[in-house]
Amino acid sequence: TILMKGDVKRQEFEALNPLLLSVYKKLIPPPEEVLKQRKFLTHLDRLVSRDWGGAKLFLFGSCANDFGVCNSDIDVCLSVDDEHSSKAELVMKMAGILRSDNMQNIQALTHARVPIVKFTDPDTGINCDICVNNMLAVVNSKLLHDYSQVDPRLRQLAFLVKHWAKQRQVNETYRGTLSSYAYVLMCIHFLQQRRPAILPCLQSMQPTYEVTVGKIKCAYFDKVNTLRNFGCSNKETVGELLTHFFDYWASCHDYTRSVISVRTGGYLSKDEKDWTRRIGNERHLICIEDPFEITHDLGRVVDRNSIRVLRDEFKRAAKILHQDSNPATALFEPF
Ligand code: CTP
Ligand code: MG
Repeated sequence: TILMKGDVKRQEFEALNPLLLSVYKKLIPPPEEVLKQRKFLTHLDRLVSRDWGGAKLFLFGSCANDFGVCNSDIDVCLSVDDEHSSKAELVMKMAGILRSDNMQNIQALTHARVPIVKFTDPDTGINCDICVNNMLAVVNSKLLHDYSQVDPRLRQLAFLVKHWAKQRQVNETYRGTLSSYAYVLMCIHFLQQRRPAILPCLQSMQPTYEVTVGKIKCAYFDKVNTLRNFGCSNKETVGELLTHFFDYWASCHDYTRSVISVRTGGYLSKDEKDWTRRIGNERHLICIEDPFEITHDLGRVVDRNSIRVLRDEFKRAAKILHQDSNPATALFEPF
């Protein structure tokens, strides 16, 4: 048989794909960990309903959005209707309740941009962060979760990208690199752009889910079980997708002009977002629009130095996936 150019490429990925899938499988939390998390959350829920009438807990972040790897911290949002107390005061009150329940390592970070209380549950060893009245995070976690139900390749790709980012130390917002949340949005956007598309744009479909958080209206199509076949005419494997993902961020993305937007399922210009210049500490050197808080650029934490680090890491990853004889090891090598 005569091999075509595309076939040669396919063969390159044929060896890569099982290697990457086995890395992915090792990252999935085992059932006993999921059970442990449930047990912990039930306990926390009882504690709050007993000691704080009217307060409710919501799960968000990686435990709620289906992108949680083994041993992730648990993110919880406390929802309470209290106009007279500041978020810092509410966090202090929560810390008091946790103290009376003998939780360990309790730290109330009341001066952080988003005040939280951090602690460890001595029974399960689980680390938990609780923030207050941050319902947008609960809603965007649901959006991510709903996208993950459309095509299994999103979860595979995002696990590998998150794992890579942690190993290479480019998942540290306090040092100017990107949050896990930003990386998952980059993966969703990337799969929306494949031809044929692997993911739809849920926010441009007829809404079946609508909530208003503060002034922000969040609406999208959430009957995702009807979309299970959406991406099936695209046969790309996660090996190919991960390679193209890094190719894209290494050499195709227009860092000067372009904004990626999961909300619209496409690209916007920095001009139309007015993200063309530095304002305060926000530099917009890589632009990732938040799907609901659309004035938020998740790349705003990236500075002159960390953009270089990031782009060098994208290039390194792309090169390894194309050339290395043992790509799965080199790719995730700790920095
Ligand atoms: N979040 C947000 N805006 C940001 C960063 C985070 O709204 N700029 C919210 C999102 O709801 C996200 C959650 O905070 O799901 C947790 O963020 P992050 O820790 O980045 O993601 P996780 O999925 O929890 O990843 P990890 O496994 O690394 O903890
Ligand atoms: Mg988290």
